[in-house]
Amino acid sequence: MIHDDVLSLIGETPIVRLRRLKVENRSEILVKLEAYNPGRSIKDRSALFMVEQAERDGRLLPGGTIIESTSGNLGKALALIGAVRGYRVVLVVDPKVPRSVLQFAAGLGATLDFVTIPDQHGGYQGPRIERVKALCAEDPSLFWPDQYNNPDNPRAHASVTATEILADLDFVDALVATVSTGGHVTGLSRTLKQHLPQLVTVAVDAIGSSTFGHPFSTYKMRGIGLAWKPNNLDHSLIDRFHPIADHEGIATSRVLVRHEGIYVGESSGAAIFAALHYAHHHPGHRVLVVAADDGVNYLGESFDTDWLRRHGLGQVLDDSALCDPSGLVRAAITPTHQPMLFETSASTISRTNFAP
Ligand SMILES: Cc1ncc(COP(=O)(O)O)c(C=O)c1O
Repeated sequence: MIHDDVLSLIGETPIVRLRRLKVENRSEILVKLEAYNPGRSIKDRSALFMVEQAERDGRLLPGGTIIESTSGNLGKALALIGAVRGYRVVLVVDPKVPRSVLQFAAGLGATLDFVTIPDQHGGYQGPRIERVKALCAEDPSLFWPDQYNNPDNPRAHASVTATEILADLDFVDALVATVSTGGHVTGLSRTLKQHLPQLVTVAVDAIGSSTFGHPFSTYKMRGIGLAWKPNNLDHSLIDRFHPIADHEGIATSRVLVRHEGIYVGESSGAAIFAALHYAHHHPGHRVLVVAADDGVNYLGESFDTDWLRRHGLGQVLDDSALCDPSGLVRAAITPTHQPMLFETSASTISRTNFAP
């Protein structure tokens, strides 16, 4: 098949069944591998959608400049689009962004603008946004996609990603997805729930993130979580919330590559850890996990033994329970933090009880 450019390779990502990392109760865990996009993550889809809408609206003119705050993957996607369509791309990044991600974006011609001073909680997301706002104030011609607030971010998944899933699967009992901007969990749930009204959506977040209203503290997983509640997250579409600890998400991504040959990042590890928990308590259910990015992003971090020890995560290497599929499944059944059920009424959301 001949494609006119690499952007037309975005989407149609494969779904793979887990064969060794599973629960023996007739449940099934399917993983949609977003690393098969040309920018190696799910953010290719939202980036393209936001850029194309801005092109239509005239907010982004030929030869213009795109600016965005990014922890990595949206930056890679925008850099790719910029290279293909002739836009200059400025990415506001911080020291937590993996080196290989920065190299990937720089290789595509993006300019990297570093924020080095964190906020009082040790996070960089707020300072990055402030930097973007300052640069936009200096040059109003810059196009800022604003992934946390731009409705085209969830729309990309509601219209494109969800349609792909419905074409591939005739039913799914549960959708498990990680949350940062809330774009993909919101967009996917919106469309999938219209077609599959019984679908349970499990939103997966990092312990330490404030997305679901908890106080912020730093954590090691990348791409997941936020220091505030994103406007693009529609809580009314979320049925459960499962906070995951660094060691749980990172250990799962390492076991996945060793025992399934699936190289995905730590947020995908977190989602699969949550899916194992859900599957254990729901015999016979089919669980679809969205694996947001490529593990190759983190070869110098969570896949590197020295990095893990230096960052206080030696437990991932030393605890035999976290190093093989059966131990990991046992750990997922009794996780550090229990998932929470949300009960949604017309306009209010209350946390009800701990979910099995
Ligand atoms: C690796 C990774 N996982 C999960 C997410 C969360 O995706 P969303 O922004 O759609 O909530 C992101 C977003 O940047 C990501 O890069």
